[in-house]
Amino acid sequence: MSGHSEVVFRFLAEPTDVNFGGKVHGGIVMKWIDQAGYACAAGWSGSYCVTVSVAGVRFKRPILVGQIVEVSAQIAHTGKTSMQIFIRVRCGDPQKQSLVESNHCIISFIAMDKAGYPLPVPQFKAKTQEQKKLELYAIKMKEIAIETESLLQRTIDD
Ligand SMILES: CC(C)(COP(=O)(O)OP(=O)(O)OC[C@H]1O[C@@H](n2cnc3c(N)ncnc32)[C@H](O)[C@@H]1OP(=O)(O)O)[C@@H](O)C(=O)NCCC(=O)NCCS
Repeated sequence: MSGHSEVVFRFLAEPTDVNFGGKVHGGIVMKWIDQAGYACAAGWSGSYCVTVSVAGVRFKRPILVGQIVEVSAQIAHTGKTSMQIFIRVRCGDPQKQSLVESNHCIISFIAMDKAGYPLPVPQFKAKTQEQKKLELYAIKMKEIAIETESLLQRTIDD
């Protein structure tokens, strides 16, 4: 059995989230990404999960104080114990209907058992064309994250 494959958070950007220019700190956006990703991963796997990597983080436009923020997290791919989750952050004037994309990324979580060992996760099957496209992107991002890590390891070992 698996849970829902998508989670959406909606809230307002508060004065405590922003820098002196009135724009939301990048670190705050990363926190929202991690929280929405966690809720999606824990819901899908039915287990406690930990973040293992974040790939392809793009800050496309700033989020301003008072704007409505929508953080959507959807399962894009599952491995044996890992889940690749596509995050899209959108923002806009709460008095208007339209939101524009401010950020996206792929965040990977691992499901953990009570002793702290990785657990197998329910398998996600992409059905729509959109899900299939996103899955290819997520697989590529996971490969890049693992490959670049091994490059760094070689640099440290040298
Ligand atoms: C997450 C953790 C348990 C993974 O341990 P590990 O021994 O490196 O993992 P393994 O080699 O057993 O791989 C486990 C999974 O992670 C995947 N993985 C490893 N590195 C990865 C990366 N950079 N990006 C995405 N997935 C990665 C592996 O492919 C494997 O997935 P699969 O089972 O779906 O094929 C360990 O690195 C850890 O505890 N990290 C700290 C987590 C943390 O504190 N997060 C922040 C707070 S929640």
